[in-house]
Amino acid sequence: MAFWFNSDQERGQVFADAFARDLPGLPFVMDVTQVNPDNIRYLLTWTAPPDLDRFKNLEIIFSIGAGVDQFPIEDLPPGVKLVRMVEDGIVRMMQEYVTLAVLALHRNLKAYLAQQSVGKWQALPARGAADCRIGVLGLGMLGQAVIERLMPFGFPLSGWSRSSRQIEGVRCYHGTEALYSFLRETDILVCLLPLTNDTRGILDARLFSALPTGASLIHVGRGAQLDHQALIDALDANHLSGAVIDVTEPEPLPPEHPFWRHPKIMLTPHIASVTQPETAARSVIENIKCHRDGLDLIGLVDRIRGY
Ligand code: NDP
Ligand code: OXD
Repeated sequence: MAFWFNSDQERGQVFADAFARDLPGLPFVMDVTQVNPDNIRYLLTWTAPPDLDRFKNLEIIFSIGAGVDQFPIEDLPPGVKLVRMVEDGIVRMMQEYVTLAVLALHRNLKAYLAQQSVGKWQALPARGAADCRIGVLGLGMLGQAVIERLMPFGFPLSGWSRSSRQIEGVRCYHGTEALYSFLRETDILVCLLPLTNDTRGILDARLFSALPTGASLIHVGRGAQLDHQALIDALDANHLSGAVIDVTEPEPLPPEHPFWRHPKIMLTPHIASVTQPETAARSVIENIKCHRDGLDLIGLVDRIRGY
């Protein structure tokens, strides 16, 4: 039985070293053409390879990313488990990115850069952290980690999830009926939802109109959750004051897309967080050991829920 690493060579070498050290009995394969497909028991990949049915003894697919929307979840062989990436490197990078984005919005960074470009020296009105309410859509691994990192700044914090959650110091809302109460009390909205049938297109005109005037958006979930035109309309009408966008549909955006040059948008190329091979290898190895010991897998995807 073997582990197939279906990604780039550079990261593969880091994984190969970790597997040789910590799971020496499990053959580690990067070139799957060199092995009998019946031997593949575990697969690490960004998305499902086209000929997945060939691997009759496959038990677990590990996603390289925290998101799993890139997998055709409904079409995966029924007995195969799908596991999303849960590792410290992704968490740390997302904490950094969202903190950066919150502070940039809170302290008017984009406006000061614009002033600098025309040689203008002028202070803009500033509000205290206690007057800037941060609301996080999604209270999973990343949403909670981001909230934890923002807490010392003194921003009032709230979050929204599908099922009920309790987090100390955070106003927690859940379910569709609570979404609009949550939005009405949010000055900076952070989207950290997985892409599912329920969250596709969720960042739309109706959602933006429920936010207070002057609110802003940090979008680090998935591109297909955002209605681009609705965001531009809300910004141009001065209902929203700014947006930091890391994920788009498509990626990259075409050169003529208005997000590239919009004065109130900061755009990054899906780099908020990136799987770190050292910590990811450790996490996958721990999960394989859990599986062997009959314990629950960390990050097991519920194929009905889609995340
Ligand atoms: P988790 O699965 O740990 O958490 C998902 C959260 O979203 C949960 O709190 C869940 O609610 C909530 N949720 C899901 N569906 C709904 C819904 N319909 N209504 C309300 N809440 C909902 O995911 P992670 O925190 O690990 O990751 C979140 C997403 O971040 C990923 O799926 C990926 O798309 C994105 N991501 C982006 C990256 C980037 O670089 N831009 C990097 C990594 C991830 P409940 O608690 O009730 O289950
Ligand atoms: C992820 C991502 O899902 O990089 O990990 O978006």
